[in-house]
Amino acid sequence: MKKWTTQQRYAPYGSYSAETLAGLIRAQRNSRWHLSFHIQPRSGLLNDPNGFTYYNHQWHVFYQNFPYGPVHGLKSWRHVTSPDLVHWQEDQLTLEPRAPYSTQGVYSGSALPVNDQLFLMYTGNVRTTNGGRISTQLGAWLNQDEQLTASDLPLITQPSGYTPHFRDPQILHVGKTYYALLGAQRADHQGQILLYQADAVNGPWSLVGPLDLGHADLGYMIECPNLAFVDGHVVLIFCPQGLDRQRIPYANIYPNMVIVADAVDWQNARLVNPGPVTNLDEGFDCYATQVVNGPDHQAYAISWLGLPDTTYPSDREGWQGCLSLVKALHVVNGQLRQTPVTIPAATSHFEPLRDTLKGREVLTFDLNQVPTGKIALGNGHEELALTFDGQALTIDRRIAGEPVDSDYGNTRKLDLLPGSHQLALWLDRSSFELFIDDGQRVASGRIFPHFDTPWRVTTALDTPVQVTGQRLPKLN
Ligand code: FRU
Repeated sequence: MKKWTTQQRYAPYGSYSAETLAGLIRAQRNSRWHLSFHIQPRSGLLNDPNGFTYYNHQWHVFYQNFPYGPVHGLKSWRHVTSPDLVHWQEDQLTLEPRAPYSTQGVYSGSALPVNDQLFLMYTGNVRTTNGGRISTQLGAWLNQDEQLTASDLPLITQPSGYTPHFRDPQILHVGKTYYALLGAQRADHQGQILLYQADAVNGPWSLVGPLDLGHADLGYMIECPNLAFVDGHVVLIFCPQGLDRQRIPYANIYPNMVIVADAVDWQNARLVNPGPVTNLDEGFDCYATQVVNGPDHQAYAISWLGLPDTTYPSDREGWQGCLSLVKALHVVNGQLRQTPVTIPAATSHFEPLRDTLKGREVLTFDLNQVPTGKIALGNGHEELALTFDGQALTIDRRIAGEPVDSDYGNTRKLDLLPGSHQLALWLDRSSFELFIDDGQRVASGRIFPHFDTPWRVTTALDTPVQVTGQRLPKLN
């Protein structure tokens, strides 16, 4: 596979020909791993969801994109919209790198409707000649005619006592005040979330302080902090890098973590009565989740099904990454629940233990105790397996097609409490998302099957299991 030099990764978009781009778009479109109902890159690499919001009668998501290959190169935002969080349509709108503040990339950020426009706040990335970086928080406006105007005024610059790892603003409006949460690294290499406030979105912004999460030592950097108001609680989602696995266990290179708290004390920059730090997703690929409170106040989340510093079999075809389903968030008994947003009318019936799979199904398994045995999806030589030992569930993607070459393994073990459980497994060609017990736990991942012969569902369990299924539509 092509080795990309730094110079190649950051070459201006204008240095590529239209044919190169057309070839990459074709390769993604024709891929056997092209997804049927998930947001995926038009070409090249997709990473974080950005600017997830409801504005002008539709839902908006942008995605981090390097359009010219399956690597983390010169990033911009690409735009998709939806009337219902299920049917997504990509358009030509992009937020692209420009001198002087985002010359080497438009990094992650968020969106907020302000008056009749949508305000975008994001990080401009500049690489310095000595290998360093400059991070500047910038703003842009999207109007109702979908015209985007980027401002060249820095809104927030790197504060003293912190390194240039300072990015991913989430902008919120609480009462009369605007707040921004930012991922940051203290000069002594401690990951922090910084809280800023302003009376108007275009500033001036002032630092309130590092947000006290009620947990110290969360690694050397925190990326993508995101906060939503859920059923009278506050849900804070973030990506700590270098977190001690002895203290808070996780399996992936970097985790996406969540804290449920009672509230935010905005004046004193602290979470009120924070619960434990837990994994948002216990699968293989989930990162940079964004959350938003919609017009009816319901909170929704969407994640990158991918991880930094990881390669995938689709890289060979020139593309990488997709987003998750949109998940509605609830807090029940202090615990987060994530349930996928779907339109039941769009699904069709199929018999899971008889019909072959098209790779776009949702399967539910009702277990009245934790069994011993296996539920498998596959064709004899390819297999995504859920194995049970009477106490735990192991998700095994080792032979679910071309393996993901990961130092972090291709099995994930989830302990289950004794008693009944329901598993809902959403399959979309090269992704799966497993929702356990009404979204109390979620485990997501990418798989890269050849589907050379059709897949089927088989069960070999020591207890009866009720299996139901729906076929999902091809929307992309
Ligand atoms: C997380 C991240 C963000 C950054 C973006 C760049 O995946 O590293 O912190 O803004 O990706 O693409």
